[in-house]
Amino acid sequence: MKLLFVTSEAYPLVKTGGLGDVAYSLPVALQRADVDVRLLLPGYRELLRKLRSVQILGWLELQGAGQVHTVRILQSQHPDYPFPLWIVDCPALFDRPGNPYLQPNGYDWADNAERFTVFSRAAAELARDALGIGWTPDVVHAHDWQTGLVPAFLDMLPQRPQRVFTIHNMAYGGHFSQADFVNLHLPSYWWSAEGAEFYGGFSMLKAGIVYSDVVTTVSPTYAREICTPAFGYGMDGLLQSRSYKLHGILNGVDNDVWNPATDPQLPAHYSADAIQPGKSQNKAALLQRFGVKNPAEHLPFPLLGMVSRLVEQKGVDLIINAIPSLLASTDARFVLIGAGHGYFEQRLRELAAQHPERVFVFIGYDEQLAHLLEAGADMFLMPSRFEPCGLNQMYSLRYGTPPLVLHTGGLADTVVDTSAVNLEQGIADGFVFHEPLTSALKGTILRAIDYFYQPTVWQHIQTTGMKHAFGWDNSAAAYLALYKKGASQ
Ligand code: ADP
Ligand code: GLC
Repeated sequence: MKLLFVTSEAYPLVKTGGLGDVAYSLPVALQRADVDVRLLLPGYRELLRKLRSVQILGWLELQGAGQVHTVRILQSQHPDYPFPLWIVDCPALFDRPGNPYLQPNGYDWADNAERFTVFSRAAAELARDALGIGWTPDVVHAHDWQTGLVPAFLDMLPQRPQRVFTIHNMAYGGHFSQADFVNLHLPSYWWSAEGAEFYGGFSMLKAGIVYSDVVTTVSPTYAREICTPAFGYGMDGLLQSRSYKLHGILNGVDNDVWNPATDPQLPAHYSADAIQPGKSQNKAALLQRFGVKNPAEHLPFPLLGMVSRLVEQKGVDLIINAIPSLLASTDARFVLIGAGHGYFEQRLRELAAQHPERVFVFIGYDEQLAHLLEAGADMFLMPSRFEPCGLNQMYSLRYGTPPLVLHTGGLADTVVDTSAVNLEQGIADGFVFHEPLTSALKGTILRAIDYFYQPTVWQHIQTTGMKHAFGWDNSAAAYLALYKKGASQ
């Protein structure tokens, strides 16, 4: 089976969040299952810089906004990838510094509609082997709004591959104006309530949902939630009507990247059978990284961590609001890393400045520090208001750092609350609360801290989580089954 995997980010080349992790681990797991994969990415500056040698596969003339772009398709190898990478090289659209979607001032690039339309057109052209390479995919798998137009462009081919579209987050709809639609010369038949039109503009996410053969999202609970008004962002009716082709497949944890027994980013290794002293050594190293001179004095007290995009989704405000009273009523320490909205960044900086002995904050994106935090913290805070899947709670389970989560989306599917019954059954591995309220989060933190001071029970909770297998192989097998179903139709 031949698979063209189309994504706007992929670890370790370019990553802003979980999509980057998935777009690395899933195709690699599929390749292990004998799928012949090509991974297609935009040629961002940061990405091209990481590639050693590239080969030009050919040139495509692609319609942009009021102009035609001559785009080079490059092929490259990368040591982390066991199959070729294909790159859409169009400097006018992608040779820019920093984040793939945002300008340095934090606003979207003004030409994002054009950038991802041209990228999607390139994917559709490659899917019909427009360059005459002799490789035609059986399946094209696109992800999120940035590649939502791929299934739509493929709709116009007389003979087309199976089109699979994965929603990683309904909150980002890829909404653009009618003027963009016209400038980009998009086909007029898409402009309808049954097509890509959405409240007077158009949505690339909607196009992906409408024109693909199979729609997936990244957890079973989120697949149900997005069919309701509270989580559907106006597309719940559409999704309900397409429920025959909607599937929820949980993401996995990449054992080569996130494994406390081998993680090269950690100063000390440990495993479920021998958590100590490795975990405490990482805790000391994490505190030292934040300038703590006497880490040993902090070791007996609970260290609560967070790694997150600082956006409303993640419930960062709940954490910020809970911290002052928790500092007063407990011995907890906090280590928080993230980047995002300036308001949250500012509030976190203020907390760290007010409590330099107990609140440690890093504002920015640091992959290595994220690993050290997963290993060094005692608990992981993830009170997301909604969470399509969430990877960090699975990483923290794997790292013996019980997560505290709201019962929603993938968090509900992966974390088992430490209730008396679950504890007795040996399945408790974290702490779950049900209302997105500061008081509920605080109560849950206090409950978790109580258990933290009962070392035998705590170790039991840690070990249960560490042994919980969230490998990619099961998820890859579920995707493969969907690919095959379509291919045989
Ligand atoms: P989302 O994709 O919604 O951001 P996930 O939990 O699925 O949430 O994935 C987040 C990924 O991004 C994880 O790999 C996490 O470690 C990483 N990440 C998020 N923020 C940062 C940061 N500031 N520094 C390093 N890694 C980060
Ligand atoms: C999105 C979601 C997150 C999910 C990730 C990978 O960024 O917010 O919940 O884990 O995609 O699928």
